[in-house]
Amino acid sequence: MANTASEPEDQFRRMLNHAVLAPSGHNTQPWLFRLVMDQLELIADRTRALPVVDPYDRELTISCGVVLDHLVIAGRHYGKEIEVEVTPDLKDADLLARCRIASDVTPAATDNALFKAIPYRRTTRTKFEKRELSGYNSDRCIEFAKQFGVELRLITDSTMRRRIAELVAEGDRIQFADPRFRRELASWVHSRRGSSHDGMSGEGFGMPDALSSIGALVIRTFDLGNGVAASDQEKILEGSPTLAVFSSPSDTLPHWLATGQALSKVLLTLTDAGATASYLNPPVELEQLRIRLRELAGCKGTPQLLMRFGYGPSVAPTIRREVNEVLIS
Ligand SMILES: Cc1cc2nc3c(=O)[nH]c(=O)nc-3n(C[C@H](O)[C@H](O)[C@H](O)COP(=O)(O)O)c2cc1C
Repeated sequence: MANTASEPEDQFRRMLNHAVLAPSGHNTQPWLFRLVMDQLELIADRTRALPVVDPYDRELTISCGVVLDHLVIAGRHYGKEIEVEVTPDLKDADLLARCRIASDVTPAATDNALFKAIPYRRTTRTKFEKRELSGYNSDRCIEFAKQFGVELRLITDSTMRRRIAELVAEGDRIQFADPRFRRELASWVHSRRGSSHDGMSGEGFGMPDALSSIGALVIRTFDLGNGVAASDQEKILEGSPTLAVFSSPSDTLPHWLATGQALSKVLLTLTDAGATASYLNPPVELEQLRIRLRELAGCKGTPQLLMRFGYGPSVAPTIRREVNEVLIS
C-alpha cells in the first residue's frame, strides 16, 4: 500500500520548487515554510528584513504574498486545489498563511500558462520598447488584481508619466543621500558565484557578474542619487510606455499579502504575453511622496507598488535558495 502519510509533503515539495522562484525585494527571499501534519505554513522570515527601506516589513509581506500565489498556481498545475487561510493565528504575526491540499482539480489553460511562465519571469531594469501592452493583456492584469481586492491603475499618458518620473527622481535623490539606505542595498549585491543563494548580482545593474563586489562598494560609498534619478527619469520618459500603480484598501498586513498575490498573477500574465516589468518604489517607500503619488495616479486606496510594464531584452535569471533551505520541520 502507498505511504499516504508522505504524500502531502512530497506534493508540497514539488510545488515549492516552483514557488521559490518568486521575486522579492533585493532578492532577500524572506520566507520559510513549515510542514505541520498535512498542512504547509508560510512564515515571514524577518531576519531577512530591510529595516531602512522597508521599516514595517510591508514589501517583505508583499514578497511573501507572491511566493504564496506561486504555490497555489503550481498546485493547480499539478491537479491540486490549495486552500489558503491567511493570517490564521492573530497572536503569531509571522505566520502569514496556512495551506491545505483541498481537492483534485483539472487545471484550466490559464493555470497552465501562468505555471509555465514562472521560470521565465524576470525583473528587467533596462529601457523597454515603445509599444504598449495590448488592451486584452492590460484588462487581464487589472482583473487578476481585482480578484484580490487590489486596484491596478495603468498609466500611459505622457504628461502623467513625466510627473511620476519627477516623483521617482525626487525619491531616488532622498534615498541615495542616506548612507544607511546605500549600505543596506550594497549588502545584498554580490556575485552569483558566491556561497549565498540570495541577493542581486551586479548584472541586474548592467555590470558583469564578476564586478558585483565593486558595484556593492560603489553603491555603499558614493551618493549615486543624481545619476540614478536621471537614469530612472529617462527610462520612464523614453523606455516605459506603461506605468502601473497597485493600491489596496488599507495599509495593513492582510492587504500587503493580497498585493503580493495580485503581483504574482500580474507578473506571470505579463510573462505569458512576452512582456516584463520592473519596480520604481521610492514614491511608495517615502511617506511624503506616497500621498502625492496617490493623488497623481488617482488611486482609491493606498499605493503599494509603482512599476513599469513593457517589452524588454532577455535578462539572466537570479539565484534562489533551494527548497531544503526554506522548508523547516
Ligand atoms: C516587493 C518587491 C519590491 C521590489 N523592489 C525593487 C526595487 O525597488 N528596485 C528594483 O530594482 N527591484 C525591486 N524588486 C525586484 C527584485 O530585486 C527582484 O525580484 C529580485 O532581485 C529577483 O530578481 P528577478 O525578479 O529577476 O527574479 C522588488 C521585488 C519585489 C517583489
